[in-house]
Amino acid sequence: MRVLVTGGAGYIGSHTLLELMAQGHEVCVVDNFSNSSPVVLDRVRSLSNGTVISVEADIRDRAALDDVMDSFAPEAVIHFAGLKAVGESAVKPIDYYDVNITGTLCLLAAMDRVGCTRIIFSSSATVYGEPVYLPYDEAHPLAPTSVYGRTKLMAEEIMTDWTSARPEASAVLLRYFNPVGAHPSAQIGEDPSDIPNNLMPFIAQVAVGKRPHLSIFGDDYDTPDGTGLRDYIHVIDLARAHVAALDYAARTTGARPFNIGTGQSYSVRDMVAAFARAAGRDIPVQIAPRRAGDIAAMQADATRAATELGWRATHDLDDMTASTWAWQSANLDGYGTH
Ligand code: NAD
Ligand code: UFG
Repeated sequence: MRVLVTGGAGYIGSHTLLELMAQGHEVCVVDNFSNSSPVVLDRVRSLSNGTVISVEADIRDRAALDDVMDSFAPEAVIHFAGLKAVGESAVKPIDYYDVNITGTLCLLAAMDRVGCTRIIFSSSATVYGEPVYLPYDEAHPLAPTSVYGRTKLMAEEIMTDWTSARPEASAVLLRYFNPVGAHPSAQIGEDPSDIPNNLMPFIAQVAVGKRPHLSIFGDDYDTPDGTGLRDYIHVIDLARAHVAALDYAARTTGARPFNIGTGQSYSVRDMVAAFARAAGRDIPVQIAPRRAGDIAAMQADATRAATELGWRATHDLDDMTASTWAWQSANLDGYGTH
């Protein structure tokens, strides 16, 4: 299939490009490189030995999107492009609504213009909010607690309304849990442009000596060791979920959400211990106050993805930490572009 990938130079997008190309799909990336670099796409090209068409454009640029739709004529779109920092979304809500909502509207309008009827969307477990029960299944109430989470839920609703108006259209809403890990080549990985917000890239930077210690945000949660529990998913498994979602979109219509997680959860202390094992060195930690907005535990019920997409995670915690360590230790400054 010809697949247009918005945000394809980003962390999850770049890994997904490689999985798509490995399955014979043709790809075209639209990215404004606001949180990535064209260097990433060069690495994808050399790893895949394939063609990655790339257009530097903002997804809110309607004329640019129309040009790409006309020249590439995609049969499906995978929509990664967006802003993703939960804390920043409280400080810059208009930017988040603009990129995540206006951007989605511009994309759907451009797809409509050329009759492209399949979209795979990067949603998030944050659409659920404070758990009423765990593991979350897709029927769990939706009550996001951040601006970021609300943009994801609104975008899901927009795509659901779009499929209602277009009986032939399909929107696959992938609710990612916590993506971590890197490509086995150690040439593609997560490269935060600033101080990492997320746990795994922070631990990785402590392990290579770029930061003195990890602050554990709270050890007094109602969890077995007092630290937060999350369902971490290897980025390669996540990338493969998109390939499965494309097949699903080709044989179904309507909008459907899917949890994309492993169904297992690990604490912050579990992650630190696993990373120390992978890196063969200690990870110094300090206990810090809870981070505003954090919840104690999150875990996916990913049964629907297994049953309907035929997808399930195959990488374990050691794969996640070992691949992150391999990437970070081989690329001390990530892609070296910040
Ligand atoms: P990322 O920042 O690495 O990738 C996003 C890409 O989109 C970047 O290359 C960026 O340059 C591009 N982009 C941003 N705004 C754009 C715009 N206006 N026009 C064109 N390109 C633009 O993020 P990621 O971790 O790869 O996440 C991809 C998607 O998955 C995002 O939508 C994110 O919200 C969602 N998601 C991520 C996580 C996570 O923990 N990483 C969890 C759940 C959902
Ligand atoms: N944590 C620390 N110290 C840090 C960073 C994180 O102790 O320096 C803890 C957090 O308190 C939490 C756990 O590590 O208990 C995971 O935190 P992350 O920031 O890595 O991930 P979150 O679960 O907060 O959120 C992430 C993404 C969201 C996404 C969500 C989906 O940031 O965009 O996963 O579940 F929507």
